[in-house]
Amino acid sequence: FKLIPNEENEAATARLLETGAKVGADAYQFRVKNQTPHCKFGEQGICCRICSMGPCRITPKAPRGICGCDAHGIVGRNFLRFVAGGAATHSDHGRAICETLYHASPDGAYHVKDPDKLIRIAKEWGVETEGKDIYDLAHEIAYLALGEYGKVFGVQNWLSRAEAHTQELWKKADIEPRAIDREVSCSLHMTHMGNSSLPEALIRQSLRTGLADGWGGSMAGTEFSDVMFGTPKPIDTTANLGVMNAENVNIVVHGHDPSLSELVCDYAEDPEMIALAKEQGAKGITVSGVCCTSNEVAMRRGIPMAGNFLQQENVVLTGACEAIVVDVQCIFPALGPLSKCFHTKFITTSPICRMPDSDYIEFSVGTAAEKAKQIVKTAVLNFKNRKPELVHIPQLKSKATVGYSLEAIKKQLDTVTNSQVDETGTLKPLVDCITSGVIRGAVAMVGCNNPKVRPDSAHIGLMKKLIANDILIVASGCSAQAAARVGLMDKAAKDLCGDGLKRVCELADIPPVLHMGSCVDISRMMVLVSDLAKDAGCHVSQLPVVGCAPEWMSEKAVSIGNYVVATGIDTFLGVVPQVSGSDQVTNLLTGGIRDWVEAAYTFEPDIDKLGDEMIERIEEKRTALGI
Ligand code: SF4
Ligand code: FE2
Repeated sequence: FKLIPNEENEAATARLLETGAKVGADAYQFRVKNQTPHCKFGEQGICCRICSMGPCRITPKAPRGICGCDAHGIVGRNFLRFVAGGAATHSDHGRAICETLYHASPDGAYHVKDPDKLIRIAKEWGVETEGKDIYDLAHEIAYLALGEYGKVFGVQNWLSRAEAHTQELWKKADIEPRAIDREVSCSLHMTHMGNSSLPEALIRQSLRTGLADGWGGSMAGTEFSDVMFGTPKPIDTTANLGVMNAENVNIVVHGHDPSLSELVCDYAEDPEMIALAKEQGAKGITVSGVCCTSNEVAMRRGIPMAGNFLQQENVVLTGACEAIVVDVQCIFPALGPLSKCFHTKFITTSPICRMPDSDYIEFSVGTAAEKAKQIVKTAVLNFKNRKPELVHIPQLKSKATVGYSLEAIKKQLDTVTNSQVDETGTLKPLVDCITSGVIRGAVAMVGCNNPKVRPDSAHIGLMKKLIANDILIVASGCSAQAAARVGLMDKAAKDLCGDGLKRVCELADIPPVLHMGSCVDISRMMVLVSDLAKDAGCHVSQLPVVGCAPEWMSEKAVSIGNYVVATGIDTFLGVVPQVSGSDQVTNLLTGGIRDWVEAAYTFEPDIDKLGDEMIERIEEKRTALGI
């Protein structure tokens, strides 16, 4: 078994850029050059634009802003605003999902596909389910979930899912998230001119806001997407640019909210649309995806994954993309001008994400079916405008098995025969594997790509190293797609593992890198580690488990980092956040917060070192547990 070497992916990109050059297309690789070197003040977080007496920049000669704020206050405030941006974004996505569920109906575009999960959540929230119509229940729960965004008193409902000790830590540190919107608002309030400049207070609120995301908004996004579109189960798919088909109409879905892509996938399978595609001279319709929307439809329907974040321009550069259909988040505004160099329709659909040079087809719950059909039709009718001389799809494609929701992982573990475990639906077989040392531990590999790192090289390099050391990987977001693209989610990748992990992969019939979904699905990982701690009878922070985002770039990623750390999981970042201008803030994030949440960050741009440090941390945790 061989992975696709990253050099081949890079060669494919270089070849696509040649097509781009022919049509005068811009690309991120060129823009990076124009933007380098980056502003040092921005890089260190010591530029403040919070009031109009400024902007102020901290230098040895000017150690304070006009208001007297020092570097620590400025860095801390900037960091908190960054987190608030991320938490708002994930949570608003979650809110949109709740709203869609609120409008689900048996004869509408959105249905309840996993009623059992809905009933489980209702029971968790103390809602009577007996004798209720499932759609009435869905609307009742959706209404309550929407209430979590602005609840008047109390803290997030889902905190009770955490392991008891974690909940105590949150209470003691005063970081239990209240209403989701309140934490975001409060962060903006605290960072307004003339409020907090004390790093400790700003970082505390950063953790709280992160938790409002991970155990609030993101969790709503995940859970209610499962209720509507089905809880993922293992499913085979393919990944990399070669999933696009030169003979077919290619529709690429990109963004984060599955409400749009699910319906686009439905209509792409509609015989009427396929017939129309044939009339246009195509053989059929291929839907593939980029970024988390891709993860969502791959996990639930096996829709192939064309690529991750830094592949988004590449799908257009193939010259074979009839439409790139986007919803929200992580969408390059570059797609507008780029699509104009080709026949590609760049279709924006959300009032949250409006861009120049796009065709705007507004998508809403009420008109979803009609708009999805219009989008698919637009793409199909665009096939005839393709310029054959520009078509080049790199023939790179890997097999992948995806769809490992927590429910699916537990079910898969039930198939592992283990005489000591008679209960089903638990993580005890995994606990046994970790305790015995067959598996040394687990790493959650998550996050984006960032041109500051050779795209995917850190994701893939680290995963290869970790699995060779018998460390199981759960992955999400663009990290998961990096893995899938080269073959790390092929079950045959077990051959790259150490003997222990290889045996587990064979017994449980899993790949060594488990696709747990999109970025909001990192909430699944939080419940996974909490349940693992409960089943192991220890605290989350004691588990030989760490988190890693080696190529992260967005505000969302920092919000995630904060809730992962605040849940008790040491988190390793390969790109240093813009906090180096304050040793106080840096020290808090990489050490001080350990007093509150028993975990902290490690920043290490040397990826090899980052991997060594993760393995070291895992082994330290094992030693401390005496296993
Ligand atoms: Fe300068 Fe203070 Fe205004 Fe920031 S808030 S721009 S540091 S005066
Ligand atoms: Fe994402």
